[in-house]
Amino acid sequence: MKLMIINGPNLNLLGKREPELYGSITFEDYFLQLQKKFEGVELEYFQSNIEGELIDKIQEVGFTYDGIVLNAAAYTHTSVGIGDAVKGIEIPVIEVHISNTFKREDFRHISYISSGAKGVILGFGLQSYDLAIQSFIS
Ligand code: DQA
Repeated sequence: MKLMIINGPNLNLLGKREPELYGSITFEDYFLQLQKKFEGVELEYFQSNIEGELIDKIQEVGFTYDGIVLNAAAYTHTSVGIGDAVKGIEIPVIEVHISNTFKREDFRHISYISSGAKGVILGFGLQSYDLAIQSFIS
């Protein structure tokens, strides 16, 4: 089982960025925990602040890996291009968010990803990623 976690803009600042919303550990540290927990899964991680690089990565893995866990961050609410990429590939995508976007500003209630995703997990903090991975293996 080969899964790719893709994180969008500003998620490179996890640990420093609005810790009351996004927690105080870096994604790199959390990723190590995930790799330990899901030893039998080949887990990879990619982060970019650039919309086109996220689309390129979705296309690159989207026909060969077993799944993508995607937190497109702010692009979730704006990017027709990332939404189309998710619809254009063959493997399932689970959309995740750390915060409960429905408890937040109205513009965060719209997602261009959800209609192409297999499912959506949000509001569980970093555990949202863990739950998404579990959904692929059970
Ligand atoms: C986020 C929610 C988005 O609205 C926000 O722009 C982010 C992070 C989350 O994981 O909670 O950058 O995707």
